[in-house]
Amino acid sequence: MSKDKVKTVFFCTECGYESPKWMGQCPGCKAWNTFKEGLDNKQSVKGSPSTKRSTSEKTVIIPVSKVEIKKEDKIKTNIGELDRVLGGGIVWGSLTLIGGDPGIGKSTLLLQVCKSLGDSGKSILYVSGEESAAQIKLRADRIGEFKENVKLYCETCLDDIKEVIEETKPEVVVIDSIQTMFLEDVASAPGSVSQVREATGVLMRLAKGLGVSIFIVGHVTKDGNVAGPKMLEHMVDTVLYFEGDRHASYRILRGVKNRFGSTNEIGVFEMRNQGLVEVANPSEFMLSGRPVGSSGNVVSCSMEGTRPIFIEIQALITTTNFGIPRRQSDGVDLNRVNLLMAVLEKKMGLPFGNCDAYINVAGGIKVSEPAVDLGLVVAILSSFHNKPVKEDIAVFGEVGLSGEVRAIAQADARVNEAKKLGFKKCILPASCKKSVQDVSGMELTFIENIKELKI
Ligand code: TYD
Ligand code: MG
Repeated sequence: MSKDKVKTVFFCTECGYESPKWMGQCPGCKAWNTFKEGLDNKQSVKGSPSTKRSTSEKTVIIPVSKVEIKKEDKIKTNIGELDRVLGGGIVWGSLTLIGGDPGIGKSTLLLQVCKSLGDSGKSILYVSGEESAAQIKLRADRIGEFKENVKLYCETCLDDIKEVIEETKPEVVVIDSIQTMFLEDVASAPGSVSQVREATGVLMRLAKGLGVSIFIVGHVTKDGNVAGPKMLEHMVDTVLYFEGDRHASYRILRGVKNRFGSTNEIGVFEMRNQGLVEVANPSEFMLSGRPVGSSGNVVSCSMEGTRPIFIEIQALITTTNFGIPRRQSDGVDLNRVNLLMAVLEKKMGLPFGNCDAYINVAGGIKVSEPAVDLGLVVAILSSFHNKPVKEDIAVFGEVGLSGEVRAIAQADARVNEAKKLGFKKCILPASCKKSVQDVSGMELTFIENIKELKI
């Protein structure tokens, strides 16, 4: 093909949709202004690294019963909070993506994983395309002393990295980050959709073929998705996200996808001088520094995986000074807040039409469980009437459109945790009466409708 006839295509940088022409809106993911021009890789597909396979890479058909699994099927990182999110440890030959804002601690966590696994005798390769060896050493010095079996490789050319991995056969590899890696045969720039896609493909085949476990760091766009194609999330086995306020010290690691375990688990860490430290009791952490005797604050409980996490919900309801009321929420879905306020307006006749509402969940955690509905309702009522809720009360239940308080899962676990944390009273759905046993020293108030709330 002559040089002046190089064909280009347009890619959506969000979802990877390809089109021969530029478009304002992506037909695939409906995002605006996301099309970028790139070389058409299909032309060189025949020779591209992703389609060439050596005979040793070819797989054979085997009966399920004959599949051999390595003895120790999950590698414990010995970082309890991470092991929990991973579903017990790292699976051999798995590909794990860790996403999160810049500076939240992705590199720090993975370096700590390297240290911990290195200490237990595993061979590790940490590949960095972002920082120099000296920069990584500075961070490593804060974390502790590393053994000889943790190797560092500052490189961005994935063809070379692949060779090194095949030669040295490390047990665990970290790629920091996928957006800096490039394959020589893919024409577009590092970080572009086709590079990210092809590079992940190469890593996936390495992981499955050699049985090495690979961690990939992925950058996140403004709206919290991993930059590049959504496809990246489909290709990997496990997706973990770091949440939390970069300016505060706590970090929450959430499992979003996990082919080897449950997805709802979270791990809580605190960023200290010596790296990330596990927070053994997240509820105490979330509730620390809570104001006493102030209106609009109430404690609710969200089940995150197997653990009940107690959180403080804050509401501030004020009179609107400008025409349109403002509604703002942090940590809970704004639509849920709007819906609950509409229920309160209709069923309890509250004039929210000229009220601004600001909702916040303290601690930077994002909660999506409907069981915090009742907490939101109580916080809103408390702020509206300017009446504080006693600090030893915890509230949980789902609220329906008629104002009914609906059953929630694992009410028993929540009540027991509330007792452990020193709460004296719980307000919960009447339909949970059967599933909750009497807990000594705990006053339980069962309600059927939000009208029964005495605020
Ligand atoms: P880093 O792990 O490089 O984040 P990412 O890879 O997600 O971009 O950054 C961690 C931040 O935490 C950085 O601002 C410095 C800080 N930090 C500590 O507070 N204590 C530590 O021990 C380390 C290593 C970093
Ligand atoms: Mg980093």
